This record gives sequence, C-alpha cells and structure tokens, in this order.
Amino acid sequence: MTPPDDGTILLISDIHSHYHVIDAQITHARETLGREVQQVLVLGDFGLFGPNLHDYFRRDGRRFALPVAFIEGNHEDFHTFDDLVRDYADVVTHLPRNSVQEFGSGRWLCIGGAQYMDAWSTPPGCEIRDQDIARCMENPPGSINIVISHDCPTDIGMTNDPELGHLGRPGVAGLARVADHLRPQLWFFGHHHRWHEKQNGGTRYVGLPQSWQGYVLLDGAGQMDLVDHKVELPRRPGWWKWIGLK
Ligand SMILES: [Fe+2]
Repeated sequence: MTPPDDGTILLISDIHSHYHVIDAQITHARETLGREVQQVLVLGDFGLFGPNLHDYFRRDGRRFALPVAFIEGNHEDFHTFDDLVRDYADVVTHLPRNSVQEFGSGRWLCIGGAQYMDAWSTPPGCEIRDQDIARCMENPPGSINIVISHDCPTDIGMTNDPELGHLGRPGVAGLARVADHLRPQLWFFGHHHRWHEKQNGGTRYVGLPQSWQGYVLLDGAGQMDLVDHKVELPRRPGWWKWIGLK
C-alpha cells in the first residue's frame, strides 16, 4: 500500500557521478522504510561531468525515478558548468548559488561551492567568495527555514578527516556569519564525507556522508530521519582513489 503523500524530501550528498546511487536510496526509502519521497536534493559533488552524464543519461537512456535538484560542490566541471546544466536540464535541476527556493512549506537558501583547499580539489568557479556571503546576508533574519550548502560553517564542531589535516580547520567563516544572521531551523551540508550533528542556538546542523553510505528523509511535518544504508559501487580505475575519489 502506498503511504499518504507527506511531501517527503530525500537529502543526499556527494554523488561523485555514481548517479545510480540516487535511485538506489529512493528505492530503499520506499521498499525498506515504507516512505514515499517527492523530491531529491543533492548537497553538492553531484559529479557534473560531460562524459559521465552522457554515458548514463544518453547512451544508456537512464532517468531518475523522481525530480532531482542539486547545488554545486567542488567536484563538478566548472569549465562547462552552464552548458551541462542546460544540456541535462531534462534529468536534473541546478539550484543557483545563493538562491532561495520553496520546497514543501519551507524557504530554502541554497549555497553551492566550498572553501579553497588546493588547486585540484577546488577549481576556479567553485570557491565561496565574499560576494556570495553578501548575497546571502541580504535575506532578512527569520526569512529562511532551511539552508543547504556543500561546505559547512565554522564553529559547529566539524573536524577534518585525518588525511586532510594539512588543509587547516574545515568550514567557511562567512557561512557562520550567515547562520548568525538568518538563524534558520535546519542547516544541511555534505563535503566532509561523514555524519555530523550539532545544535547551535536555534539551528540544527546535519552533515551527510557520501551518498552510498546514507541519506536524510525530511517530511512535511518537519520529522527528520538520518538513514544509514550502504549502496555497492562499481569498481573504478585505481587512479580515482589516488586523486581522492571513489
Ligand atoms: Fe566536496
């Protein structure tokens, strides 16, 4: 029996071009948890790369089972970003940086991008700049219910992966100022590849692991479930791991 439609949103992060993981997690939510999802939101590192998109969606003719929208992370093709967003608008929707979107009854502020790490991990076009923070601060306090970002604010207890300690403390100081200003009820992020929860003032922060390790369900009444569920990945060449990807 199909459960009643409660406007449930599935949040997931760091797809890294493993597009099949999105449908696998939708199926898990439906068949194992009995939850019917309406919309999928990807918190960056979708893996917007032409060859991967072409193979999956054009050559193999695959489509997502549900509407999927994403903010950009740092692992996207920023040289051809706008062209790819336009060419694949039939399968995935980009939520522009610093835009406010309405999903369910909430107003969501969408902040793609990441703090600079190194030239390979954070190519030109992905870095969160001062003007992005200024744009976010133009929203009046109390006008945003939920923020989604790829990177996270500083000062929420997020620590670096031990292998990334040389990159300094994680997070974006400007995003902490956005949090202080807007005071949203919820703030979701990815990028750091593990679960993280923190209550800070009136804001609950939730960091998500990579897509094949789990996802979040948020229903129309504000009920949130953090779901651990592993999805098998196909083997990729060894150099993927060597450059920090799976
Ligand atoms: Fe990332």
